Amino acid sequence: MDKGPHLIKKIPDMMNIVKVHKQNQIIGFVPTMGFLHKGHISLIQSARKDNDIVVVSIFVNPKQFAPNEDIDRYPRNIKRDIEICREQGVDYIFYPCAEEMYPNGFQTSVSLSELTKGLCGKSRPTHFSGVTTVLTKLFNIIQPDNVYFGQKDAQQAVIVKQMIKDLNYPITMHILPIIREDNGIAMSSRNKYLSAGQMKNAEVLNKSLKLAETLIKQGERNCNRLKKIIYHKIENENRNSNANIKIDYIEIVNFDNLQPIENVRTNTLIAIAVFIGQTRLIDNIVIK
Ligand code: PAF
Repeated sequence: MDKGPHLIKKIPDMMNIVKVHKQNQIIGFVPTMGFLHKGHISLIQSARKDNDIVVVSIFVNPKQFAPNEDIDRYPRNIKRDIEICREQGVDYIFYPCAEEMYPNGFQTSVSLSELTKGLCGKSRPTHFSGVTTVLTKLFNIIQPDNVYFGQKDAQQAVIVKQMIKDLNYPITMHILPIIREDNGIAMSSRNKYLSAGQMKNAEVLNKSLKLAETLIKQGERNCNRLKKIIYHKIENENRNSNANIKIDYIEIVNFDNLQPIENVRTNTLIAIAVFIGQTRLIDNIVIK
């Protein structure tokens, strides 16, 4: 076979390819919305190590954007994405259009009842059913043995893990650490929206989480106190820089079930979402 990545746009073509490989090869799958960055590359590299065949999907999924979230503004660069996939030895890029995934008459949605209620689900109430619906389709089309997700979208990772379990997918899920810029900002396609000044302001997300982590190491366990400290750190940045920062949430939860907790213990997720101007950024740390 000639070197990849092969760009596949049609579902039946992708399914025919998968059928052949499935007979005797292990398939690794990295679902993405494109505009690939180092975070995606780390997922692809893990997939490349573990599997015979690596499939990356690139699909800016309309179902996970609310009407007020401008999907047309979402950054795209398929040429560059193909190049990155080539460098990383990806075999196939599944690159369907919206009509291919959701033809006229499409009416099914997959949603989880509990894990989607808090954190990002509160301010983006339709987002996660969009994610789980598209992933159900993608898992059925690509039939992966292994799938790779980033911890940056921590709630998404917990939700997908539950969905895989609930729907009996024979899939092993791998959640890989957040990849950060040199200044600590978590890699995200949305960072593209930030001006140089806002990029500087965005450092406060990671800095406030790091502060909480340091305090925990020094013995602080009380979640309310920790949340207040994170809040003040972010508000200070706002005051000092006139940055137009608005906190969406600061939550401390059990990383297994996303339930709020009073005191930090093992496997605690500290997750924050912050608007810098119009751009909503998320970040988190897991206290092991
Ligand atoms: O994390 C993302 O980029 C998306 O939510 C995903 C998993 C590709 C589904 O569209």
